[in-house]
Amino acid sequence: MATSYKELGLVNSKELFAKAGAGGYAIPAYNFNNLEQLQAILQACVETKSPVILQVSSGARKYANATLLRNMAKGAVEYVKELGCEIPIVLHLDHGDTFELCKECIDSGFSSVMIDGSHHSYEKNIELTKRVVEYAHAHGVTVEGELGVLAGIEDDVVAEHSTYTRPEEVEDFVSKTGVDSLAISIGTSHGANKFTPAQCERNEEGILIPPMLRFDILEEIEKRIPGFPIVLHGSSSVPQDLVKEVNEYGGKMKDTVGIPEEWLRRAAKSAVCKINIDSDGRIAMTAAIRKVLAENPGEFDPRKYLGPARDSLKKLYMHKNINVLGSAGQA
Ligand code: G3H
Ligand code: 13P
Ligand code: ZN
Repeated sequence: MATSYKELGLVNSKELFAKAGAGGYAIPAYNFNNLEQLQAILQACVETKSPVILQVSSGARKYANATLLRNMAKGAVEYVKELGCEIPIVLHLDHGDTFELCKECIDSGFSSVMIDGSHHSYEKNIELTKRVVEYAHAHGVTVEGELGVLAGIEDDVVAEHSTYTRPEEVEDFVSKTGVDSLAISIGTSHGANKFTPAQCERNEEGILIPPMLRFDILEEIEKRIPGFPIVLHGSSSVPQDLVKEVNEYGGKMKDTVGIPEEWLRRAAKSAVCKINIDSDGRIAMTAAIRKVLAENPGEFDPRKYLGPARDSLKKLYMHKNINVLGSAGQA
């Protein structure tokens, strides 16, 4: 039997994006695969009074089991009440690649889905996205489409090079498909290895600055579809202190540079209403776990290292909500 997200106490993204667009901030979209990640996201968003999009990728569904993840999101609604602040929660499918997967998620309680047809031809992308929109809207579920390709790894799909979104296509795509938001490609990429130091320049303070995002493309898109909610994927900043900590405690992460937080702040003030962050959380958890285990080699109670990992993740997300996305206080 199908379950509606409304029965679970979740909301779709429609109203949240309208408020974020008008208010000059972005809603955080954080990926989760396990209990500690979910606890950290919810605690951080409750403490900063931020609306939140809980993202589940198909990789997460394979890893943690779709039924368990969905019921965890249901539990999330009860948990935030218990914490004393009923923040709006969206349960979103990240990078859905088929109609069938989107339908399965819609039928099982997701309030929002992404259909990522960006790897298909323009015509096929429209056809697939439109089909998902028709089904989703009949169930009150919002849909994110994508135009342009981000470099990096998305589940099993590896795109070596990015293709920027073509502003001349957005109006046509949005009107033909009926999507509620649009993910665009302006120079961000998936994963922790976004830019090598060799691709960056040093500023006066010696900080490595990657090639500028194509804000000109974003502005052109805003002109063509004024007020339409835009989504930015691949928005981890790869905090250097956390990468250093991973490597200090036995890790071997490459020298890598992410998206500067000031650029994300700038994007959040524009038509960008949703910012996707996953890799930074992975690095924060790994650093904390490595530290505990390196300093306490005799430790074998998972709570002793997953607890600090959860705390570090919560701190990171609070910082993002307050200082980067501007979503704090908006719930
Ligand atoms: O964009 C991809 C997200 O970071 C999810 O990653 O597919 O490895 O779960 P995943
Ligand atoms: P990052 O890999 O930069 O965290 O991006 C995550 C993302 O876009 C999820 O859809
Ligand atoms: Zn993504």
